Amino acid sequence: MAERPYIVGNWKMHGTRAMLSEARAIDRAAQRNMRVEVAVAPPFTLIHAVHREVEQIAVGAQDCHTATEGAHTGDISAAMVADAGAKFVILGHSERRENHAESNSVVREKAEAALEAGLNLIICCGESAETRDKGKAESFVLQQLRASLPEIENPAERLTVAYEPIWAIGTGNTATPDDVAAMHAKIRGLLVELFGEEAGAAIRILYGGSVKPDNARELMALPDVDGALVGGASLSADSFMGIALAAAEAAD
Ligand code: PGA
Repeated sequence: MAERPYIVGNWKMHGTRAMLSEARAIDRAAQRNMRVEVAVAPPFTLIHAVHREVEQIAVGAQDCHTATEGAHTGDISAAMVADAGAKFVILGHSERRENHAESNSVVREKAEAALEAGLNLIICCGESAETRDKGKAESFVLQQLRASLPEIENPAERLTVAYEPIWAIGTGNTATPDDVAAMHAKIRGLLVELFGEEAGAAIRILYGGSVKPDNARELMALPDVDGALVGGASLSADSFMGIALAAAEAAD
């Protein structure tokens, strides 16, 4: 566990301006719990509004295009989300890999564009139930992550990795503590191999997949788990900040 856990809410395709009051409540609670670094990634349409409402928490995007601008109807570039107030972008989430056929190389190109625009990265990886059942979870995740990561200066500051087993996302099934610890140790090994001992040890690795206030403490106390990427439970300030509180307790 990092000294200051990093708890990120991924609102996915949820939220209209009615959610701004929730963002304010999250921000107020984050100001009372400085032991934890809190951030939210609302839909594109709310990035600027949330950014204007909050003081403590960082705001991020859930995707960006590989190009800076151009004839790409309906797409949004990294420079645009940065201009709207985003400080980071989540890339390679399994829902984007599945729903938009995003390959590892597309994720890497998006990551390069995001770095260029000054955004920090949360790069997601995770295996399907089928891959885990075949005993190939670790080799799959390491290969996926290796192929999705960009070349990066200051990786400890700019890169976060999120391990999210697909079968745990939105299902209420979390991976067992042993499985999470084993995967995070493997990911740590890869980061050390790629970025060296010091940076590799400092890059934060988040766990995601049905993290809730009642399971967060056990998960956050595991070695090499530096925080959480939270979907459903980040939509209410109460449950999201319950997770942040559990993470703070686990770090004590
Ligand atoms: P969940 O989603 O917390 O709703 O399982 C996590 C994620 O997809 O980032």
